[in-house]
Amino acid sequence: MSNEERVVLALGGTGTVGSGLVKALLDRGFKVAVISRDKSKLEKLKGFVSPSTTCNLTTLVGNIGSEEEAENVKQTLLNSVGKITDVVSSLGFSWWQRGPPHTQPLKELLWVIETLLFSTFVSWKTFFPLVRDDPNCTYTFITGGAAEKLLMPGTGFLNVGSASTLAFCQILREEYPEIPCKLNQVKINTGVGTSEHMGPGYLNHVELGEAVAALVERKDKSHTVYNINCPADLKTVIL
Ligand SMILES: NC(=O)c1ccc[n+]([C@@H]2O[C@H](COP(=O)([O-])OP(=O)(O)OC[C@H]3O[C@@H](n4cnc5c(N)ncnc54)[C@H](OP(=O)(O)O)[C@@H]3O)[C@@H](O)[C@H]2O)c1
Repeated sequence: MSNEERVVLALGGTGTVGSGLVKALLDRGFKVAVISRDKSKLEKLKGFVSPSTTCNLTTLVGNIGSEEEAENVKQTLLNSVGKITDVVSSLGFSWWQRGPPHTQPLKELLWVIETLLFSTFVSWKTFFPLVRDDPNCTYTFITGGAAEKLLMPGTGFLNVGSASTLAFCQILREEYPEIPCKLNQVKINTGVGTSEHMGPGYLNHVELGEAVAALVERKDKSHTVYNINCPADLKTVIL
């Protein structure tokens, strides 16, 4: 199946990580669908991708963190694009630094878990059945690697959220060891930025997107975790 015949659902496609991926996928000839809670972010995304590829980008408004809304938006999506062949999930947030745990209300922890874990779980439960039984299909998670140690003072809940997503991806590999769909994870242990907002050692989001798009295109491995610690790893680990 050529890239032109494949439709990738980019969950989190309006984000820092997701927008680079959407651009790279479209540039490789894939059709891409993006769901966002915010119409203005979808408009911004349309302005960011290569102009000649916007005709291959489908955008929908919806909250894939809610079971009911995710199910509704899935039906609208399928009516619009027909079939989904690939899913890439990069849901969550870029950064959290609101202070040490004793200063935080429970509501803050709930927001962190809701944004990083619940949205990842609900969307996986909704969209995985579309690709699960087909060896030509892929489901790829892009996660952070902050679970193991405090990155800097006041960022602790980032670790909690990151750990929950990592654990979720791990149990999927173990609970579904033999599914035909290629189930993979790209674990990023550094920052990701746009050309305008880069830090030392950061990955450029479009370069990251190009590497992930190549992985989706190849669909050769499953149940693999690709650990990315620095920009050079995009070539050595993925490409
Ligand atoms: N940025 C980094 O430096 C970095 C580094 C390593 C790993 N990562 C990982 O990459 C992932 C994405 O990070 P990011 O920097 O791209 O974050 P971001 O710019 O804040 O984007 C987050 C994305 O998640 C989506 N989202 C969250 N909850 C949703 C929901 N309920 N329904 C629909 N969409 C929802 C947002 O969509 P809406 O349009 O609806 O808001 C947005 O597209 C995270 O898991 C993060 O751990 C990021």
